[in-house]
Amino acid sequence: MKGYDIISIEDLNDQQIQEVLSLAAQMKAAPERYRHTLAGRSMCMLFEKPSLRTRVTFEVGIASLGGYAVYMGPTDVALGKREAVEDVARNLDRWVDLIVARVFAHRTLETLAKYSQAPVINALSDIEHPCQALADIMTIFEHKGRFAGVKCVFIGDANNVCNSLFLVGSRLGMKLAQGGPKDYQMNADLLKTIQANASKSGGSITICEDPIEAIRDADVVYTDIWTSMGQESQKHNKDRAFEGYQVNTDLMVHAKPDAIFMHCLPAHRGEEVTSEVLDSPQSVVFDQAENRLHAQKALILKVLGGDIG
Ligand code: CP
Ligand code: NVA
Repeated sequence: MKGYDIISIEDLNDQQIQEVLSLAAQMKAAPERYRHTLAGRSMCMLFEKPSLRTRVTFEVGIASLGGYAVYMGPTDVALGKREAVEDVARNLDRWVDLIVARVFAHRTLETLAKYSQAPVINALSDIEHPCQALADIMTIFEHKGRFAGVKCVFIGDANNVCNSLFLVGSRLGMKLAQGGPKDYQMNADLLKTIQANASKSGGSITICEDPIEAIRDADVVYTDIWTSMGQESQKHNKDRAFEGYQVNTDLMVHAKPDAIFMHCLPAHRGEEVTSEVLDSPQSVVFDQAENRLHAQKALILKVLGGDIG
């Protein structure tokens, strides 16, 4: 994986996904063993949007491996406005070993990757959130002990988080379902890729409008905010469209009794999920947040070809 751009979950093959998961679990169990594996290595974080988890976990993550991060926020670089994306890429790769970027348009990541000699990792775009998905499957494995046959339901908007989760889940033999209104169901091209993945892995994917039908017998119930960053002008319409898709205790009773509840966070309490569910014993949202750290440490160690010894 050394030198790989990780723009999509599809940039990793099945074996590489397993390798990242296994390294992440080892790093979580014995972080001190990896303390100097990226000594002196540098990473630039280009963020067009705000962040709590992604920023802190990448910065703390690389520092805990002996490297360091330079953070550039939304007003620092003004990607494509102050300077062309191509030129930003060709500057940065002269100075740093890795670029981690959070962008509005997925295409910006593709341009960065095309023009930068240094690898580029997607820290969220409008289409995908692969680092979140790696932490999510790590969390699912910790709680369920397997992937094959695990039913994972995403209630709400088929957004970046749902896309990456389903792209990876379909490779692992999971039974996936999205419950969302017609206008907010999974994109047809992505669905084809997910169906092709699932037919190879023994998994499945169903899309339906009825949240109760979607959630029935679920092992994992996932939701995310209805209006993602960058879609603020659609908030009014989305709030209306997603009435009836709130994950609350009335909906959760249709999942398996030992189902876990997941959310990438930040959550809008009282909108897509109630506090009762978010704070319930079924909720593993802070395990997910913790695992962002371990999963990304494993990913950057692999991409930078750190010396694992
Ligand atoms: N889940 C996630 O990516 O959180 P942040 O937006 O806070 O980074
Ligand atoms: N779908 C959300 C995820 C935030 C981590 C967004 O893009 O805003």
